[in-house]
Amino acid sequence: MRRKKTGQYITPTVVAQELGRYVAVDLAEIGHAVPPGAVLDPACGDGVFLEVALRWRWAASTATCRGVDLDPDVLDGPPGAELSVADGLIDDGRRYGVVIGNPPFGGRGVRERTAEEVRELARSSEVWRCDKEGRARRRKGEEPTRIELDRLRRYPASSFFVERFVRAAAPGGVLAILLPESFFSSSRDAAARAWVLRHARLVSVTSVQGRDFLRTGTRARTAWSVWIRRAEPLPRALDAAGIDPPVILRQPRDETDHELVSAPGSRSFVVRVGVPTLVRHRRFDPRYHDPQWEDPLRGCRLPLRPLGDFIEDIVYGALGRGKAPRPHEGPGGFLLVGQKAVQDRGLDLAACPRIRDERPFVQERYCLQPSDLVVPRSGMGTLGKNKMTRWDGLPAGCDALGAVVDCFDDRVVIRGISSAWVLGVLRTESGWWQIRRVISGVAQPNLSFTQLRALRLPVPGPQVQAEAERRWAAIAAGEADFETLRELVRGTLA
Ligand SMILES: C[S@@+](CC[C@H](N)C(=O)[O-])C[C@H]1O[C@@H](n2cnc3c(N)ncnc32)[C@H](O)[C@@H]1O
Repeated sequence: MRRKKTGQYITPTVVAQELGRYVAVDLAEIGHAVPPGAVLDPACGDGVFLEVALRWRWAASTATCRGVDLDPDVLDGPPGAELSVADGLIDDGRRYGVVIGNPPFGGRGVRERTAEEVRELARSSEVWRCDKEGRARRRKGEEPTRIELDRLRRYPASSFFVERFVRAAAPGGVLAILLPESFFSSSRDAAARAWVLRHARLVSVTSVQGRDFLRTGTRARTAWSVWIRRAEPLPRALDAAGIDPPVILRQPRDETDHELVSAPGSRSFVVRVGVPTLVRHRRFDPRYHDPQWEDPLRGCRLPLRPLGDFIEDIVYGALGRGKAPRPHEGPGGFLLVGQKAVQDRGLDLAACPRIRDERPFVQERYCLQPSDLVVPRSGMGTLGKNKMTRWDGLPAGCDALGAVVDCFDDRVVIRGISSAWVLGVLRTESGWWQIRRVISGVAQPNLSFTQLRALRLPVPGPQVQAEAERRWAAIAAGEADFETLRELVRGTLA
């Protein structure tokens, strides 16, 4: 069979076979037999997944394998298969025992459609317009507005394909689909996930990562998922929590014979996680449920409270919207605190430009007060490295009027507990592992206000808090390094 050597996103045969094996193994584990019937790959390329289906006998013969691809130059498949050059998103009215494939993530799927084709997609599809429970927001068939059509053009092709996979499967039919990992982890895709969960039971998700051969030119991580089409959709995605058995989540071993190589430093594992947990955390990606995040606070004897109980305010600085802050010369002005200024000992004021006392950049809300924490909002080099610090006020002799955070940093106002203790916790395993877990598996590490407030904080007595303040004072004065605060936290929690 012809393999397209130069094809960008073609799945190598060995990888496709490995993915097929996971489908077989997972279905065997849960005791689900593939219903007899035909097999469809609606974006089949050279048909590698149809071969996989034949190998596992999900298709009785090549005649029951149907492959569709837009591109006549790549379209191919096992001899005797039914192959057509067509738009795989268009419902052919048939229902299949297995729908399998690696559909496009973006590109030609949606953007290059004519206005009429986009409108047709808008009418026939629900996934792009549903709420967090996966229910269609507007009535089917209703004409979309211009704003909706714009949004629809930017909507990922892969999510339309998920809906197509679901609708093409017969009740009890199996869907096996490679998707961007973000489909399982990002809050942006939560509604689409919910829609699928209403219509299909999730059997397993396998991280396929590290190597970029699957998505040449991008470092996009992908995940392979297996679902079983329900006979009837559930009223709400949440209802799956009450009835579905646990889901198999796996990250393949580091040295596979088939190149499903994990990212450097990552580990291999298989866990089974209950649907209530997946739904509550709104994360279906294996990475989030990696057992290495096992609760660092398990066995902690101190009372645990959500950090949010002690956060009086969180705000990030002005976005500017095309405006840049104007520099201030001479005494006065405000220090603009960026991520570079965030150091173990506090803020490096030499790294803070002085700006004029002008809105939108200088406003009381952005103005740091003693004991506030400064937390970089996102970024691998800052948040990803657990950089955060505390502000203790302008040093004596500094003639600036104050310091304001820029839009890349959060000002976190802590009340009712020593903020030095909070900083110590966030920067030792007990807090950092909670943060790492949340930010793992998403393209750009980012900690939302909700996630920050949800971190669990051990609350010690006043003596330990006073000691945390003393140790922080020594760190800020350059008399001790940050480890001394970590030692206090570790010692207290041990
Ligand atoms: C990521 S490639 C995967 C190909 C194949 N499934 C594999 O794994 O080797 C996606 C394929 O989808 C095709 N494609 C893109 N949009 C499509 C559409 N609307 N309908 C059918 N095929 C489409 C592309 O031509 C390409 O061959």
